[in-house]
Amino acid sequence: MPEHASEKFIDELRADSNIVEVISDYVQLKKQGRNYLGLCPFHNEKSPSFSVSPDKQIFRCFGCGKGGNVITFIMEVEGVPFYEAIRILADKSGIALPQGMATSKQQSLSEEAQAILDANEWLAKLYHHLIKHTKEGSVGYQYLKDRGITDEIMDAFQLGYAPDVENFTASFLEKKGFHPQTMVKAGLLSHQKDHIYKDRFRGRVIFPIRNHQGKTVAFGGRILNQGEPKYLNSPETEIFHKGKIFFNFDLARNHIRKQGEAILFEGYLDVISAYQAGIKNGVATLGTSLTESQARLMRRYVDTVIICYDADRAGIEATNKAAKILQNVGCYVKIAKLKQGMDPDDYIKEYGNESFKNHVIDASVTYMSFYLDYLKKDYNLQVESDQMQYVEKALDEIAKLPKPFERDHYLKELEMNFHISMDTLHQEIDIRRRKFDKQKDNQETPRHTNIRHNPMVEKVYPAFQNAERRLIALMIKNRNIAERVQDEIGGSFLITEHQVIVTYLYAYYEEGHEPDISRFIEYLPESDLKNIIANIAMIAIPDDVSDQEIIDYINAVKQEHTKKNELQVLEKEQKEAEKQNNPILAAQIAMKILNIKKEWKLN
Ligand code: GTP
Ligand code: MN
Repeated sequence: MPEHASEKFIDELRADSNIVEVISDYVQLKKQGRNYLGLCPFHNEKSPSFSVSPDKQIFRCFGCGKGGNVITFIMEVEGVPFYEAIRILADKSGIALPQGMATSKQQSLSEEAQAILDANEWLAKLYHHLIKHTKEGSVGYQYLKDRGITDEIMDAFQLGYAPDVENFTASFLEKKGFHPQTMVKAGLLSHQKDHIYKDRFRGRVIFPIRNHQGKTVAFGGRILNQGEPKYLNSPETEIFHKGKIFFNFDLARNHIRKQGEAILFEGYLDVISAYQAGIKNGVATLGTSLTESQARLMRRYVDTVIICYDADRAGIEATNKAAKILQNVGCYVKIAKLKQGMDPDDYIKEYGNESFKNHVIDASVTYMSFYLDYLKKDYNLQVESDQMQYVEKALDEIAKLPKPFERDHYLKELEMNFHISMDTLHQEIDIRRRKFDKQKDNQETPRHTNIRHNPMVEKVYPAFQNAERRLIALMIKNRNIAERVQDEIGGSFLITEHQVIVTYLYAYYEEGHEPDISRFIEYLPESDLKNIIANIAMIAIPDDVSDQEIIDYINAVKQEHTKKNELQVLEKEQKEAEKQNNPILAAQIAMKILNIKKEWKLN
């Protein structure tokens, strides 16, 4: 396919795609100086070390070392090959693809996965059409109407109905040429016997489950009346991993970003009802409890997550579990509380949109406040001894809060509810905090006080390597400097990767390209090299460097070469001396070698 996407088109696309905007679709970026900073999507971290430069149109992670331009970013984050990344970018920027690229299929997917995706797309349309416009779908339509869902929302979520006919879907898919066994894997059909396949979702209202690109990767189907199971979901496939996506993430993403908050629901219908009520930053897990991988995905987009689960035993337990997972990945968690026994969808129906927004979502409480309440479940607070045990437990938790005014806030509640004086409560807190401090002291022996633990501090390189890095940083900004270095030392850099990079750089300039780091990254064949050059390009270099500085760098590289040669000669002599059984001479030479190496280290 490469022939279809000309170099010119790719250049234009790169120029039209603002790297900060593109990456913001995946990572919450905050401006810091000239660059933007966020949590790296390529490795797990709690404090941001992922940096994006709008000037240079490149990104780079100080933590894991990944780096590149807007195209490599898409390739890495979506896990797709080059031409698929081009397609995704063009789509985002609203640029038409050149002929030939537009129609061909995603290359990164297996044939089977592609077939499942195609079948899902057909069926989502079909089921939606049926529920909206046909007699077969009218029971489904009535069901959703009865639950208060408007036509507009049915369209927005492409809700549908799978007719209660055993082979309706099966024969539709067969006519389209889909292989029945693949459709069984996709969970669309179930195999009865011999060549008989039945529709797995028959008689159910259909909730398409889309991935973050808006592609339907699975379905959830709700039974109309009573019956088991209430919801039926597609099985895990190559394109559908329950633990890694959220229901409605594609539609919610922009709202989540704008509001800086996401709302986590339990059910599809909760998300949909909330959406209809004007709360559009809601997502749900897919009938399973929240996974760490989902929490991390969330964390990349927002600081704050509001959990709005059902107000029943299971929902409260699930809330506590999800809150812990979210906090562990660094989210600030709030809890939206509903009346006992209700779920968000019930609440909206009963009390209306405004009340849901004002009295549930906007009134959500801190995790600590929820947790102190949650702890009560283990105690009978009518009984005095239980009361005391509860207070002890609550104090254990409150003592962990780092800020005095936060602690006071919850202590006041204890004071009020259990009639214990603030003085006493403070004394109890002090005892607990002294214990923590002791534990901390024991843990924190100063073995790890190394700056390398701070990802924002650049690694310390030996002097010659620094000289090479700074030279290359200058060379990619300025063709004249590159030519000068080429004349003086050519490709004789000491670090092998640097050798390869400058060789490509010389060729890049010789082909008449202008200095452009983002474009040059494209030009490099390997991701390792791309990472290194993105790293180098992030070095802050002033626009006007003195001649002397350049000469110094070149000399540093040259000197290093001299030393290296010296060392090689000495090592040869040392071997010779050993061969000739002259231990004294060998030792003398070894001494010299040691001194050179020492000097190297000192550099
Ligand atoms: P409604 O009863 O239609 O209002 O749905 P709900 O969202 O209130 O359902 P519930 O609170 O019972 O379940 C929450 C979520 O769990 C649903 O949206 C489904 O994703 C999932 N779920 C519920 N029941 C089942 C089931 O029987 N099987 C599976 N696999 N998932 C279920
Ligand atoms: Mn419900």
